[in-house]
Amino acid sequence: TSTPKGAAATVLVTGGAGFIGSHACVELLDHGYEVIVVDDHSHSSPQVFRRVERVAGRFVGAVYELDIRDRRALSAVFDRHRVDAVVHFAAHKAVGESTRMPVQYYDNNVGGTTSLLLAMRAHDVRRLVFSSSCSVYGDARGTLLDESAPARPTNPYAASKWLCERVLADVCRHWPDLAVLCLRYFNPTGAHPSGLLGESPDGEPDNLMPYVSQVAIGRRDHLRVFGGDYPTPDGTAIRDYLHVMDTVEAHRVALDHLADRTGMRIFNLGSGHGSSVLDVVRAFSAASGRPIPYDVVGRRPGDVPELVADARAVARAWGWRPTRDLAAMCRDAWHFQKLNPHGYAGSARRPGTKE
Ligand code: NAD
Ligand code: WQD
Repeated sequence: TSTPKGAAATVLVTGGAGFIGSHACVELLDHGYEVIVVDDHSHSSPQVFRRVERVAGRFVGAVYELDIRDRRALSAVFDRHRVDAVVHFAAHKAVGESTRMPVQYYDNNVGGTTSLLLAMRAHDVRRLVFSSSCSVYGDARGTLLDESAPARPTNPYAASKWLCERVLADVCRHWPDLAVLCLRYFNPTGAHPSGLLGESPDGEPDNLMPYVSQVAIGRRDHLRVFGGDYPTPDGTAIRDYLHVMDTVEAHRVALDHLADRTGMRIFNLGSGHGSSVLDVVRAFSAASGRPIPYDVVGRRPGDVPELVADARAVARAWGWRPTRDLAAMCRDAWHFQKLNPHGYAGSARRPGTKE
């Protein structure tokens, strides 16, 4: 492990029990940071920290079960710890649900971010990495999307991420010492290579990789491929999948780059490489040695044919690029699925019980 550069020694991770947040905790612990987590466990289990600590071989400094919109409780966390930087993952992320519960999505995602900014300002914490999303590009067309592509969010979830970016840009103008990096992730997937951490959605997965993985293990009998008539080589939609380990590595590198700058920058986080739904099916089948039965059905409303990152800006700025390919994402997701056939559910500590 290396020692952290600059002064960012204690990092507050919001949403640190979630899919990407839990992997980020490991990455930061592995590189010498002190990690403090706040998470309301609305979409995660506190159980995950035992695994984080087992994988990292170190303890998380503190875990606070709280909603970041609870300003008093959040402020008390900043009172207790000298926080050098914040990595802000906490949000609701289900696109379909956001169309049914728009107020809850704006309230949680935008309200959570403003609450966090107020606490940071009051405690003079000046470094922030924010989880944004390729969904801000909406139905943008074109093969490689760079950061200057217009934002055209098409659902409340995406709009909430775009609004957060706007809020952050405005706050930077009025607080010149603040340094913000907005990372627009494309499609993070895969799992920690240990098989102890991974993606464990509640109920039926919305996203492709967890769905495919549950078909491979036999929890679901087949995949529905949403659309076989897109203008792509095999007719199925193309996305830019990024290994979760590369995703969190980028956050750790981002912290180094926040130490000596102010203002806001926005970067895509993707591989720059597109894979179709059938590419994913074939890669997962090869990684697992299991067939993935599928039916091609109608398009999913709101889906676009192709969304691939122009990932060069971050490479130019930091000399960083992802290194793990689709085969590695499938291998690691499958390893996690095999060791945890029911995700975290089978081993989750329910509140009030002992593991
Ligand atoms: P996740 O749902 O697994 O994790 C989010 C965590 O935040 C959960 O542990 C949840 O309990 C917590 N949380 C939510 N609202 C909270 C609140 N008000 N207070 C405290 N904790 C709260 O999601 P993830 O996949 O790990 O995503 C992390 C971030 O990355 C999110 O902001 C998401 O919008 C963004 N993102 C994810 C993807 C993806 O494909 N997974 C793509 C682009 C952007
Ligand atoms: C990928 C492809 C589906 C499930 C979402 C959010 C986006 C961002 C990343 C948060 C699409 C197809 C899927 C299935 C399928 N998240 N598919 N059968 O839609 O690219 O992006 O996650 O910020 O905001 O929208 O990802 O994994 O849902 O779908 O055929 O059962 O797989 O149609 O083409 P998506 P996904």
